[in-house]
Amino acid sequence: MATVICPGSFDPITKGHLDIITRASRLFDNVIALVAINANKKPSFSPEERAEMIRKATAHLPNVTADTYEGLLADYVREKGAIAIVKGLRAMSDFEYEFQMALTNKRLVPEADTIFLTTKAENMYLNSSLVKQVASFGGNISDFVPPEVLGDIRERLYRQKKEEKNQGEVTPK
Ligand code: PNS
Repeated sequence: MATVICPGSFDPITKGHLDIITRASRLFDNVIALVAINANKKPSFSPEERAEMIRKATAHLPNVTADTYEGLLADYVREKGAIAIVKGLRAMSDFEYEFQMALTNKRLVPEADTIFLTTKAENMYLNSSLVKQVASFGGNISDFVPPEVLGDIRERLYRQKKEEKNQGEVTPK
């Protein structure tokens, strides 16, 4: 039974992520979509909220589960006996960073490989930060995120934006 890990921030899951997870689920027996910590990012959703959105979006894929982990991806991969880390590769701008991570993970867990699936052309420039920006201004994100999580994201980010605005407003004397 081949288990692979699809790690990411998933803050929130996009159609680009879902495409990669779906294709991995056709290639391997078990896929774990793992919400991991990216030290360079400040997330908008808690790890458990993000994992729950992944569960909703992948409910139709029986060999996909979602999990959260606060430590090193390499340790998780070893713990699960996974044979590979599967990641999506978008524009060339992803390449250097992804290559560095793949090489580092190879040193840390030599028994597993990193496999890159090229993103679909329509998801080439899609990323979670842009989705959050559009949603926070009340824009339409239905092309970018799975329908099952659309309401959760829209409601949450729009409310967050409104709260920030209210906090920033100075009450006139
Ligand atoms: O979706 P992202 O933000 O590009 O995903 C990056 C992520 C979370 C997969 C990466 O930061 C990661 O693996 N974090 C876990 C901690 C770790 O193992 N860091 C060393 C990576 S070589």
